[in-house]
Amino acid sequence: MSFPKDFIWGAATASYQIEGGAQEESKGPSIWDTFSHTPGKVYHGHTGDIACDHFHRFREDCARMKEMGVRNYRFSLSWPRILPEGTGNVNLQGIRFYQELVACLRENGIRPFVTLYHWDLPDALQKRGGWENPDMPSWFEAYVEVVARALGGEVKDFFTLNEPQIFLGLGYEIGIHAPGDQMPPHRVTPMLHNALKAHGLAVQKLRELIPGVRVGVAPCGNPAYPFTESEADINAARAFYFRPNPERVTMSVVSFSDPALLGRYDDAFLSMYGAYLPRRWEADMSVICQPLDYYAQNIYEGVCVRAGADGEPEIVEHPAGFPRTALGWSITPEALYWGPRFLYERYKTPIIISENGMSAHDVISLDGKVHDPNRIDYMHRYLRAFRKSGEDGTAIAGYFAWSLMDNYEWASGYSERFGLWYVDYQTLERIPKDSAYWYRDVMATNGEDL
Ligand code: BGC
Repeated sequence: MSFPKDFIWGAATASYQIEGGAQEESKGPSIWDTFSHTPGKVYHGHTGDIACDHFHRFREDCARMKEMGVRNYRFSLSWPRILPEGTGNVNLQGIRFYQELVACLRENGIRPFVTLYHWDLPDALQKRGGWENPDMPSWFEAYVEVVARALGGEVKDFFTLNEPQIFLGLGYEIGIHAPGDQMPPHRVTPMLHNALKAHGLAVQKLRELIPGVRVGVAPCGNPAYPFTESEADINAARAFYFRPNPERVTMSVVSFSDPALLGRYDDAFLSMYGAYLPRRWEADMSVICQPLDYYAQNIYEGVCVRAGADGEPEIVEHPAGFPRTALGWSITPEALYWGPRFLYERYKTPIIISENGMSAHDVISLDGKVHDPNRIDYMHRYLRAFRKSGEDGTAIAGYFAWSLMDNYEWASGYSERFGLWYVDYQTLERIPKDSAYWYRDVMATNGEDL
């Protein structure tokens, strides 16, 4: 068997990571502008002020995408570019930028997939409490309405939130991402609930305003895969994958996906954090749980799990010398077999891998090219595993490589390169890496030769 014939092959980016133009055309500041300009927060003080300068170079980027066979492009909108204060005043220049981008994608035969929120919250809203403010869901809904009216004619595919686990977990629990808070569970739990409500309201608003729209959400969580294919190990891996995190409210699969896709908080989650949910939270569940066309997942690495002597799941540490990416993430293609399989079993919604890829120490060689055999090998292995998951019954709908081009890797600044295209940050020149040509052929042949 091969990939389904309407399989969506694409590449992904996010606004703050590539756009630059941080203060141009009346854009308001986001929490990432503020955070990256705060000394000591980001590697070498790097900021997204210029990033890949996609704000000025989007036309050449669209043309190059076409040339490289990218037919589906996932990108995010900067909320403060559209609404500089987060609510109220609409910035028509910001709207125009995204309309021109979408038109340019269409002219090049590229289908746009819009992520509504990939972490660059308007700073003005953070000053009003951000995700902690019970008004956040309705602020988000109002923003989505502006987007739907401006882009809904040309964009039919949306993801609501990117990795709620991470923007809440790293941003408000651990504090290494914007806005850099470290809050206790009684403050983070209501934020999670607000993010869920924002997601639900957004789905409803998109369906109300855009006929034929397709909507998904893009959460994450490192899949647990079984040490052996024994039933005991498979059950242990599944149990591990779907258990809430006793140390971090948000950082598990079930914290977000059970309410969003099943309409209930997981029992174990409730016993850990239920006391902190806002009063009358049950009344919100019908808004939070909306039918979705895609259940997307960003998957990079997995964790190996087996049934311990007492039958409880136990992590099997990777042996010495285990393959890793430049960022130190383990290379575990099994994650793209078992993750989608377990997720599909539980949530019964077609799976899109909305991000997958690796950072590598890419360099321009003497021949002027960027040779990245490690990335090709990584993608090859992961895609085979994903295909096998499909063969074994998972509804696999699409795959977006992370990332289209090297970009601002959040707290790591420009020190990590995840792109299919190399970006020279001095000249802003883009050079497609070997992996971009390889992936072009994969997309063109629907993965036939993998
Ligand atoms: C995020 C991306 C990020 C990538 C690599 C995901 O957590 O959605 O924005 O660049 O992983 O870290």
